[in-house]
Amino acid sequence: MKSKDFLSIADLTPERLKLLVSNAAALKAEGWNTLLSEKILVLMFEKPSLRTRVSFEVAMRQLGGYCLYLSPEEVGLGRRESVPDAAMVLSRYADAIAARTFSHATVETLATHASVPVINALSDLEHPCQALADLLTVYETRETLEGITLAFVGDGNNVAHSLMLGAALCGMNFRIASPAGYEVKDNILQVARGFAAESGSEILCTPDPRRAVAGADVVYTDVWASMGQEAEAEQRRRVFSNYQVNDELLSLARPDAVFMHPLPAHHGEEVAENILYRPQSVVFNQAENRLHAQKALLVDILGGLEIPLANYP
Ligand code: CP
Ligand code: NVA
Repeated sequence: MKSKDFLSIADLTPERLKLLVSNAAALKAEGWNTLLSEKILVLMFEKPSLRTRVSFEVAMRQLGGYCLYLSPEEVGLGRRESVPDAAMVLSRYADAIAARTFSHATVETLATHASVPVINALSDLEHPCQALADLLTVYETRETLEGITLAFVGDGNNVAHSLMLGAALCGMNFRIASPAGYEVKDNILQVARGFAAESGSEILCTPDPRRAVAGADVVYTDVWASMGQEAEAEQRRRVFSNYQVNDELLSLARPDAVFMHPLPAHHGEEVAENILYRPQSVVFNQAENRLHAQKALLVDILGGLEIPLANYP
């Protein structure tokens, strides 16, 4: 793996992660620039996307660079073209590759064989770009990350994994309520516990959503069936039926708690109807922050600048 690959949020030191968050806030205030003029990013996606694709494309444009999108059909990754060959070919055209893959092993293979940095734009195991935007959103809302308590209600999935690791790196307390059999992966939990021990934060895993949410600053949920799990959707609706974020559950959090969701949302499933449009919901700021967080990431990876654009408090 190359030092500038970004496959997992755990690839970052706490210092680099906090710097990315503060740089993202600075870039958000600044708008357009030419930090990445003459740089090219290729997006290669095996799954659909709204936010990730558009935010990467707009980010490269606002930084003076260029971005090219390759759909699943036109590449045929692993069928028409082997993953290593695709990595080596794209490295001859582009300065970085952002890949959205079903299997995390695919994005790892890309990184092994590409000579340019590879960014994980979502795999079955992690969604580190989402976690960057989430941390920026919490930071904007609470003006700090240390000591904040985030409660994730639902599937121990890719989004949960990256958020748990990122929270633990930044000194945020992370609680997750998942039904038996749908918990976060134990090896990722152990890594996160190591980070939490260093940063002085706490991690709680429980089957009880009420226990997770009690007194939390942030209540977070994600879909019950992720992309690639469509065949399990009906069974998951049954298993997760007591894990909906609704008024009753939210009333247990702090009175000023905010609600977060990476989107797309399934209204009436993991989140009750209309919660997204409440004043306490920051989901659309969160979606916007994908752009600013990825700009900070791209400048870090491609800009050749060891920026501090701003100082993390
Ligand atoms: N949150 C997120 O990654 O959205 P997309 O799947 O639309 O990119
Ligand atoms: N867990 C979801 C996140 C989508 C942004 C999925 O993988 O489909």
